[in-house]
Amino acid sequence: MSANRPGIAITGTGSYLPKRVMTNADLEKMVDTSDEWILSRTGIRERHIAEEGEGVCAMGAAAGRQALAQAGVAPEEVDLIVLGSFTPDIYLPSGSCLIQDMIGAKRAVCFDMAAACSVFLYALETARCMIASGAYKTALVIGAEKLSPFVDWDDRRTCVLFGDGAGAAVVQSGKETMGRGMIANVMGSDGSLAHLLTVPGMGSRHRLTAEHILNKDVCIKMAGNEVFKHAVRCMSDAAQKVLDMAGMSMEEVAVVVPHQANMRIIQAIENRLEGLKGKFYVNLERVGNMSGASVPVALDEAARTGVVKKGDVVLTVVFGAGFTWGASLLEWGY
Ligand code: ACO
Repeated sequence: MSANRPGIAITGTGSYLPKRVMTNADLEKMVDTSDEWILSRTGIRERHIAEEGEGVCAMGAAAGRQALAQAGVAPEEVDLIVLGSFTPDIYLPSGSCLIQDMIGAKRAVCFDMAAACSVFLYALETARCMIASGAYKTALVIGAEKLSPFVDWDDRRTCVLFGDGAGAAVVQSGKETMGRGMIANVMGSDGSLAHLLTVPGMGSRHRLTAEHILNKDVCIKMAGNEVFKHAVRCMSDAAQKVLDMAGMSMEEVAVVVPHQANMRIIQAIENRLEGLKGKFYVNLERVGNMSGASVPVALDEAARTGVVKKGDVVLTVVFGAGFTWGASLLEWGY
């Protein structure tokens, strides 16, 4: 997309974190672990946990309202709401419809997407394509997760990793000042590795029984070492590929916003992509891994704190269950 054409860009962001903070010291009282182990293996000190009854949709709506206010867009102007989440409030109807009602976006077309931790980037690209078709002008893209009900709080290998939260972005076309907007995107998936990261009992294959709940089949199961290896390789390759596709160098990237899975994964990617060293925005120390909410919350924080400024080239890179992965280059629009 040439620089002098109006682009399709992010024009506002927002985020929401539940009030309750769970520290590593709190986890020490629940499982056989230590602050030292968690910090050195993951980089996480604390995470936010939503209250009983506080759902993904309320969190997503809070983030969405903030993003709309930032963009100066009224709810009635929203054409499209896309919620990326694998933990919606309920499975029928879709969470995006509940959010539509909460924020009063009466004209919006609403649907949900699932691509685990990668979903925000998938949703962003879907919104971009729908706007590029000319049929829509303004989209609200939300990544929100309440992972805490799906965490096995007796499993020290997984319970230390996750947190709850929501982030949102307004995506618009048509403003002359938008520059290149969303410059390039790559995505990939490999369903042959689905078993390495899964919630095996959540879905329609089997009727949910008390036994499933007792066996913790509705909790996140993960082969941590395997996930680690694939995450590093797929995110590094995706970052390089999207730069090649756009014909851009690492020097042109101002900030990298990676999926906030684990500090050691981020460091391994940084070591592979020398030219991007020191450009990674990391907030997982305070929020843990929030799956599909990680990237939009980090983008919002980076923008609000001035780490990302209008016109900056931002590289986002994600990886999640499926496996799914992707990378996007964005010229920041506000
Ligand atoms: N506290 C203390 N000890 C622990 C803990 C804990 N919380 N968790 C595991 N251990 C122990 C294990 O029991 C094991 O002990 P053993 O050798 O006596 O059996 C030892 O530590 C090493 O266990 P590993 O699983 O090999 O630990 P590893 O160094 O691989 O770290 C971790 C585990 C952090 C999960 C790592 O594999 C990882 O980062 N994986 C990436 C996965 C990830 O981040 N997923 C997030 C979700 S997916 C996504 O968002 C893309």
